[in-house]
Amino acid sequence: MKLERISVKIGLEKPVKLLHVTDTHLDFADARDDEKKRALAGRMGHPDKESVFDEQIAFARASCDLLVHTGDLIDFVSVPNVEKARALLKDEKIFFIAGNHDYSQYVGEAWEDNAYRMNSYMKMGYGFGVPMFWNTRAVGGVNVIGIDNSYYQFEDWHLWRLKREAEKGLPMVLAFHDPIFEKSLYEEHMRRQPGGCTYLVGCDEEHLLPYDEFRAVQQRPTDATMRVIDYIKSEPLIKVILTGHLHFPFVSNLTDSLLQIVSGGGFCGDATEVTLV
Ligand SMILES: [Fe+2]
Repeated sequence: MKLERISVKIGLEKPVKLLHVTDTHLDFADARDDEKKRALAGRMGHPDKESVFDEQIAFARASCDLLVHTGDLIDFVSVPNVEKARALLKDEKIFFIAGNHDYSQYVGEAWEDNAYRMNSYMKMGYGFGVPMFWNTRAVGGVNVIGIDNSYYQFEDWHLWRLKREAEKGLPMVLAFHDPIFEKSLYEEHMRRQPGGCTYLVGCDEEHLLPYDEFRAVQQRPTDATMRVIDYIKSEPLIKVILTGHLHFPFVSNLTDSLLQIVSGGGFCGDATEVTLV
């Protein structure tokens, strides 16, 4: 496990420790799956990623209050991947919110939107059997809120629910798969993958310019997405965002008082211990 450690002052009387893990990408398939899925098995490399996740769970159990997983637990929907996800997520120590691959049938074979997400969720027989679109958990006086933004958008119902959560008056940690646009993160992504797209939510037209047409359409924010981002940046109870999807670690501020932590790929052992004090 490659552990990053970060401490964030949010005014707690007693510290709360979260282990942030993201993008585990379990990529198994077996004789119960079709040939196309079997061809995807092992696609991500790192054959020991299941034991890496076991190690992360053991670490969280020994020294953290909660393991927060921000999606892409599986790489694609297959019988063994869904079985493993369901078994793992029965663990009360794990808080989960879905990423794009958690609904992915064949990885990039179709336009992914709400209809695709729901079809896939129902095909799995109600997904992983735990909340996948929205999740909340109070731990040590902190309200952890998971939002599925895995297709680069927020929706108005997210805003409504976030406001209801803020009424509880607890400091809030948001957990979602795709990071929010922030200039230094955008530049770091472009440095790592020149000429690509950055997969950041809420990217403005100027920064969408280098994207190809498909990625610009996919990642151009809706008005609802921008309303949710504006709210997230303006609600003082929201202290920290935990996010992933990019497979490299990066920490930056969205506002003077709001930190966004991107953890690296869980499949190769990356995790972040976040101590809230
Ligand atoms: Fe992802």
